[in-house]
Amino acid sequence: MTDNETIITFKDVNFAYGEIQILKGLTFSIKRGEYLGVIGPNGGGKTTLLKILLGLIDPTGGTIEIFGKDIHRFTEWYRIGYVPQRAQEVEASFPATVEEVVRSGRTARKGIGHRFDHRDQLLVEDAMELTQVKKYRNTRIGALSGGERQRVFIARALAGEPAVLILDEPTTGIDIASEKAFYELLGKLNRDKKLTILFVTHDIDVIYHEAQSVLCLNHDMVCHGLSSDVLKEDVIKRLYGERATAVPHNPEHHHA
Ligand SMILES: Nc1ncnc2c1ncn2[C@@H]1O[C@H](COP(=O)(O)OP(=O)(O)OP(=O)(O)O)[C@@H](O)[C@H]1O
Ligand SMILES: [Mg+2]
Repeated sequence: MTDNETIITFKDVNFAYGEIQILKGLTFSIKRGEYLGVIGPNGGGKTTLLKILLGLIDPTGGTIEIFGKDIHRFTEWYRIGYVPQRAQEVEASFPATVEEVVRSGRTARKGIGHRFDHRDQLLVEDAMELTQVKKYRNTRIGALSGGERQRVFIARALAGEPAVLILDEPTTGIDIASEKAFYELLGKLNRDKKLTILFVTHDIDVIYHEAQSVLCLNHDMVCHGLSSDVLKEDVIKRLYGERATAVPHNPEHHHA
């Protein structure tokens, strides 16, 4: 396994709900260790793209390879961690403690019925430490705030030791300080653990400053490349329409 290895490839992928074409001709690849942000207008197909990538829905055309295998023959789904859009709302009434939710990330990895051993507990502790939810370990997930709950679901995904982490609008509803800490965590995981990260956001600044690369999606691919190269005024207008003028702030602070 080399560093610059391509681990995910989309070739001319299409998706339609019935007659309605949602995604058209998507061709791109993701390398091991890449930190990719996905942006685009509401309904542009971002969540649909993630669901296709996770094998939850089948493309209506094209081919996808994950870790060198056609998606239909790929079975090692535990290698991909997923934090869905609005995870913090969906699970609000779930009757489990924080630690139990994080432990379930190990079960997802090793299969139901495996013995929970010392190493599993270490990974659970590590994941809770990284996301700073240890102090809530015995608290019911429903008793946490939305932002705290979001961190627990990220801990759950990390406990499964994923090679790729996929997050759909992970900081929606999270306060500014927690958001900053959150992106520091993602950056650290990407740098230190070489975790491949793919996340959806509506925040162009965040992509510009945090992610290496960007994919702009409005049914078809409007742009793809290094975030510092691609995120220009004309691309933003093509993506969101003429009234959009957002360009990144403080470009000199880009992490490069
Ligand atoms: N189960 C479904 N059946 C039919 N149409 C659907 C279904 N799920 C999503 N769609 C439609 O597909 C389109 C793309 O939805 P998707 O959730 O991928 O958008 P998105 O880019 O993630 O938007 P947002 O920024 O609002 O999260 C939308 O027009 C949506 O209404
Ligand atoms: Mg979405």
